[in-house]
Amino acid sequence: MEKPKRNGIALDREERYEFTWPGRQAAILEATTPNDKFLCPCQEESKHWDTTGNLYLEGDNLDALKLLQATHLNSIKMIYIDPPYNTGKDFVYRDTRQHSDWCSLMYPRLLLARSLLREDGVMFISIDDHEVDNLRRMAHQIFGESNFVAQICWKGRGGRQDSKHFAVLHEYILCYAKNAVRFQAGEEAKQTAVYPKYDAQKKRNYKTQLARKWGSNSRRSDRPNLYYPILAPDNTLVYPMLSTTEEGCWRWGRERMAKEIEGGNVEFVRNEKGWIVYEKIYGPLAGEQATKKFTTWIDNINAGSGSAVLKQLFGRNVFDYPKPLELIKRLILMSNAAQDDLILDFFSGSATTAHAVMQLNAEDGGRRRFIMVQLPEPTDEKSKAYIAGYQNICEIGKERIRRAGELLKANHNDISSLDTGFRVLKIDDNSRP
Ligand SMILES: C[S@@+](CC[C@H](N)C(=O)[O-])C[C@H]1O[C@@H](n2cnc3c(N)ncnc32)[C@H](O)[C@@H]1O
Repeated sequence: MEKPKRNGIALDREERYEFTWPGRQAAILEATTPNDKFLCPCQEESKHWDTTGNLYLEGDNLDALKLLQATHLNSIKMIYIDPPYNTGKDFVYRDTRQHSDWCSLMYPRLLLARSLLREDGVMFISIDDHEVDNLRRMAHQIFGESNFVAQICWKGRGGRQDSKHFAVLHEYILCYAKNAVRFQAGEEAKQTAVYPKYDAQKKRNYKTQLARKWGSNSRRSDRPNLYYPILAPDNTLVYPMLSTTEEGCWRWGRERMAKEIEGGNVEFVRNEKGWIVYEKIYGPLAGEQATKKFTTWIDNINAGSGSAVLKQLFGRNVFDYPKPLELIKRLILMSNAAQDDLILDFFSGSATTAHAVMQLNAEDGGRRRFIMVQLPEPTDEKSKAYIAGYQNICEIGKERIRRAGELLKANHNDISSLDTGFRVLKIDDNSRP
């Protein structure tokens, strides 16, 4: 077979399939080069130092991820990140350099992050149209295509008119498992369905559904073997009828029908025209929560709600575009993180993920723990955050965790065991005097 060609030159296998960019080798090397950093405890900025299971790491996340390899290999259940969407700062070759800088930022961090995940762990990455293609290719290389779980679409905005052609309302959340075979997705609690009737014998509520077919293929001529008589409570025979004159058919064969009647799962209701036969559909048993799968489409969480929560906590806008609390809560539930599972966010910004972990724990009694990583990136001197006294993003993140913890304790009864503390560890340089 003839080799595929680019510009008339035959390509090798690797060249055809490998996603690459200028700087890929250096990026891989960056992930594997040991650093000479260490974690310096900062008790005075921490909360409940002695008892908390949560961590706040201050510094570059590449260093943090390397340091965590020694302590948290294969131990994180869920990672969420919301990286800067494109941070190319070298404008020499504007377009290509910008893309390759972004890839070089992400590749070593994704490599290191994957090795922190547990076998049943999962990673979610927020991204928009600009880098979603590159991110998918990188993630496919790092996690393997078979561990791709979903590209979730989040419609968070209203109709903005600042786009060139169409108003863009959505962004994505890519989801990859460490091992898709081992990952079991969380499920969403179903809105309580209405089960208006009560079966005193079985002590359970139920609703009813016709035992005969309706809609297409519901005539006797469609399924002649499903047209047969059954015995009503008054010993008369009942046939499946679509109307007084038109013959229909049952939804089950004779054998199944007999079994359901015997099991008390069929209800006979008499009206002026005769007997109507229903299947009884029982609601969940007490303590048994009905669930359904989460979907890859999220359209009921408004992007602006992230800022509203921060404004409520700080009385002003101290961080641009924080992610909504409800969005991160949903991702944690989708990841199936429960009990005392660990959740990591290494682009933590205003620490929405830490807030979401505490909020969920307050709601369902879980003991999930978080690790936040954030660069002490200085705030703009003209910003509201700086004017309010927060000189870098870490100061905003830590203060948010403190305030959110206090608010949760004030608003929820019976959560004395809720862990709202965190240990601050600052990444430091061995070479410093
Ligand atoms: C888009 S924001 C995250 C916002 C966050 N999801 C929230 O809801 O507040 C990305 C954050 O990553 C931080 N960041 C960028 N590069 C980093 C690095 N190398 N190490 C740690 N944090 C970094 C930035 O300072 C910024 O606060």
